[in-house]
Amino acid sequence: MVNIVAQRQTAVELDLSSEIYRENLAFWEKAWSGVTRPYKQLPQLSYVPRIPADLKEKGVKKVLDLGCGSGWLSIYLCREGFQVTGVDVSAQAIKLGKIWAREDGHTIDFQVSDIETMEFEEDSFDAVVANSIFEHFPLNMSRDIAERIFKMLKPGGVFIGCFDNVGGGPGEYFELEDGTHVYTDPMRKGMLLRRYQNQELHDLFKDFSSIKIEEVDAGSNYLTAVK
Ligand SMILES: C[S@@+](CC[C@H](N)C(=O)[O-])C[C@H]1O[C@@H](n2cnc3c(N)ncnc32)[C@H](O)[C@@H]1O
Repeated sequence: MVNIVAQRQTAVELDLSSEIYRENLAFWEKAWSGVTRPYKQLPQLSYVPRIPADLKEKGVKKVLDLGCGSGWLSIYLCREGFQVTGVDVSAQAIKLGKIWAREDGHTIDFQVSDIETMEFEEDSFDAVVANSIFEHFPLNMSRDIAERIFKMLKPGGVFIGCFDNVGGGPGEYFELEDGTHVYTDPMRKGMLLRRYQNQELHDLFKDFSSIKIEEVDAGSNYLTAVK
């Protein structure tokens, strides 16, 4: 596939009612609609065992897994002894996560919800994890998500995010003004993808303390921050 970047750009910041955002949600629902079994394989990524280790070091008990998909990280953390809530906008992904948890005898609070509208009490989690999630939001929405995470965390709570090195491969897309790709090729039509630079990550989590960003696995960034 050739790399085609059309010139169409929009200076308008996306919000929940933007057609581009809605097409992106439709992409995820369509992507998950073809999946009939949960992905039970743990991803072969070097940082995966660090997630529970870092959470344990901070004395975490209650974790929110943002954009949990069919639940590998939620299940993994549950097996490691954490009390887990997993949210994903795709009803099918959450259905698969529930099937997996039931099959393996785990209790996980899986919920269908858009990260941009999810409702959790302030100070209600010891930790929030987000693996390969922020890359699918434009910068202005990511700022909003970071603020929401900050509110939901208890004081001293920890955020762990993995931000993939994305957007460099072939594809057909147009770019929003902030550099977010909006894919137009048939495989990924509607999907949003954005590579976050280190400085942008520092800015996103500026309200947090002890921000650490480490390069892992082919240019991805593993970020930890404390409320
Ligand atoms: C790249 S996948 C990552 C899934 C999982 N975290 C993992 O590590 O395999 C992105 C996930 O985010 C979910 N997602 C995308 N936009 C979302 C939104 N606005 N609210 C909640 N989940 C969303 C998708 O349905 C998908 O499961």
